Amino acid sequence: MRIDVFSIFPEYLAALDLSLIGKARQDGLLDVRVHDLRAFTTDRHRTVDDTPYGGGAGMVMKPEPWSQALASSLADAGAGDTAGTRPVLIVPSPAGEVFTQATAYELAEAEHLVFACGRYEGIDERVLEWAGENFDVRPMSLGDYVLNGGEVAVLAMVEAIGRLVPGVVGNPESLVEESHSDGLLEYPVYTKPSIWRERAIPEVLLSGNHAKIARFRRDEQLRRTSERRPDLLAKLDPASLDKADRAT
Ligand code: ADE
Repeated sequence: MRIDVFSIFPEYLAALDLSLIGKARQDGLLDVRVHDLRAFTTDRHRTVDDTPYGGGAGMVMKPEPWSQALASSLADAGAGDTAGTRPVLIVPSPAGEVFTQATAYELAEAEHLVFACGRYEGIDERVLEWAGENFDVRPMSLGDYVLNGGEVAVLAMVEAIGRLVPGVVGNPESLVEESHSDGLLEYPVYTKPSIWRERAIPEVLLSGNHAKIARFRRDEQLRRTSERRPDLLAKLDPASLDKADRAT
């Protein structure tokens, strides 16, 4: 998968060199390229923003550096684009659709993702309209709160998407039982010692009875989800619940 990130703070994205995503880049599974948006300006001051038409607080990102930047990502993209699939342009914004695990699975199938990190009050809207001619444009929000710019959101999205690309997580089994994979929060986990500061682990985990352990874990998933995220329980397909689930 090819990933381009455009930002006026490329140093923010240095964390993509670390851990699992860093290793996936070294292994050639993810081709991540971070670009300084100011490299696409032409004036002496490398200007990327200007005052908003209609007035109001803050500054707006100018269209021209963005169009040059996005055109460059199309020009040197891999075979995927020429083979007919449109690259996905993700624009982090609190005004976007909410990024979920389902979005991460969907985007993990793409060949080319381009992230446009806005700052200030955002990017001139015409850039997104214009980009729609060549990209599948997706304004995306991490949640209902406001960050200072798109960089932190990109770190989160690249990690959530990248770990679903085949080969990035060593043991794909670990993707199956995690939170949100089946619409529920994950069950609690414990390790040695079995008694720590007078707190014992749930007895059933020492029983060796795999069916009982599976039932215990499923009950804990349902209990946690109903306590912490009743909105998720309400969205569950009733067909995905077994008889014992319904009794819980
Ligand atoms: N940029 C600013 N706030 C954001 C948010 N909540 N999600 C994604 N990008 C953002």
